Amino acid sequence: MSMLTAKKPTRPAARAAGRPLPELIFGDLWEYDPAPETADPKLKARYDLFIGGRFTAPASGKYFDSINPANETKLAEIAHANAADVDAAYQAAKKAHDNVWGRMPGRERAKYIYRIARLLQDRAREFAVAETMDGGKPIKESRDFDVPMCAAHFFYHAGWADKLDYVAPGRRVAPLGVVGQVIPWNFPLLMLAWKLAPALAMGNTIVIKPAETTSITALKLAEIFQDAGLPAGVVNIVTGFGDTGAAVMGHPIAAKVAFTGSTEVGKIIMRSLAGTDKKMTMELGGKAANIVFDDAPIDQAVEGIVNGIFFNQGHVCCAGSRLLVQETVAAEVLAKLKNRIRVLRIGDPLDKNTDIGAINSKEQLGTIERLVAIGVKDGATMFQPPCKLPSKGYYFRPTIFSGVSMSHRIAREEIFGPVLSVLTFRTVDEAVEKANNTAYGLSAGVWTDKGTRILKMSTELKAGVVWANTYNKFDPTSPFGGYKESGFGREGGRQGLLDYCKLI
Ligand code: NAI
Ligand code: MG
Repeated sequence: MSMLTAKKPTRPAARAAGRPLPELIFGDLWEYDPAPETADPKLKARYDLFIGGRFTAPASGKYFDSINPANETKLAEIAHANAADVDAAYQAAKKAHDNVWGRMPGRERAKYIYRIARLLQDRAREFAVAETMDGGKPIKESRDFDVPMCAAHFFYHAGWADKLDYVAPGRRVAPLGVVGQVIPWNFPLLMLAWKLAPALAMGNTIVIKPAETTSITALKLAEIFQDAGLPAGVVNIVTGFGDTGAAVMGHPIAAKVAFTGSTEVGKIIMRSLAGTDKKMTMELGGKAANIVFDDAPIDQAVEGIVNGIFFNQGHVCCAGSRLLVQETVAAEVLAKLKNRIRVLRIGDPLDKNTDIGAINSKEQLGTIERLVAIGVKDGATMFQPPCKLPSKGYYFRPTIFSGVSMSHRIAREEIFGPVLSVLTFRTVDEAVEKANNTAYGLSAGVWTDKGTRILKMSTELKAGVVWANTYNKFDPTSPFGGYKESGFGREGGRQGLLDYCKLI
């Protein structure tokens, strides 16, 4: 398959011949031959629950469909776990913790975790294709980011498992027991790794629920747990909707619960667990500001802004969904941004040239459309490139709103789509004030040539991560987490391990 064979654009020829101009597909972009990734995702027609080391039919007898959002076809049937299934998973996890995993020396646990990472690397292409088909993200994202980062998290935490005496110097650590975890659909495999790897390294056992639209790669990873010989019951995967998630969070055996998802559901969980002695970590929404000063390398900043909000369809909790740009360079930055998104390729997520894939679900597409309509109604100026969208599947054009003020809903609410709101500022203090004027505090970006300004901004911005002259960079060694309504607790690094142990 030739990836980069360009066909001659037909518009200049048509223009010269005086014929009507053909419809633009990607603005004035050169057309490429399709270059789909062809690895076999090895999907099963039906996925059962993974409890006690075995795939088990749900007590409920119920299944639901997992849909490919790129073309609305059914990929597989997924079991819908009820309270009895969740209970069986907790019983299996408790047995595994008390008899095997919690007692095993860390250096022995490390071997299993290394094995999981290596087996995932062996099947990386297969997993990338499955991730893209189930979730809608471009193959270049799942292939170059999600799957390698997932493996990296297992490798990193395997490395900790025999060094746990250094997690809290001067103190000894012990596992908490069984932990319950619920994750979202934007990074199905990576969120799984963020949740599982530190918990496993510490000696905890797990009951985890993937999101209902993206359960397949979690269950494929369960095949790897079997191949790695991970003892039965150490990781249990229960699939289903919010009711299953609530049962996982509320089970009495759970010593700790960890949740990543919407602030709304995070608050429901916190309310329901108030008064219990469960430990809790929450990674919730965000409304990050990417702040561009007039001395910034503008072209790099434009790339960073595009990477921060448009790639992965803006399905990123730390997405740079607000651009704060200094007034003196605002016109230049906006013009360059518009040019850049004119040439983004939106369409088949399996195509290696695709920049923006499918929106994860019909519901999420509806949420994005609703908030964008509110942006227009509130008086912001909308720009969308004239790209043609596939006729089937859930797609949304990259969208830039200018003339946005802090009171606009599109400047305050998480949209979770490829939608950027542009605001301007004049002084450093105004930039800090506007960036912090949000209920959230997950991340921020600063673009400037001045090191001192970077240090000042990173101190004053109330955000868990501040990227300087880059955006959306991740590493397993680096703790990630929020301030305010973006949640509490950290994932990654030594700090992340502290959230999965008790100090003795
Ligand atoms: P959600 O918060 O409803 O879903 C996340 C996970 O929680 C899923 O696995 C879901 O099944 C589960 N869940 C739902 N209700 C639950 C309950 N009562 N108890 C326990 N678990 C429950 O997010 P949703 O509805 O998919 O997306 C809505 C909005 O949330 C998005 O538009 C976006 O703004 C935000 N979001 C933020 C994420 C983040 O990483 N911070 C991830 C996903 C969504
Ligand atoms: Mg929901």
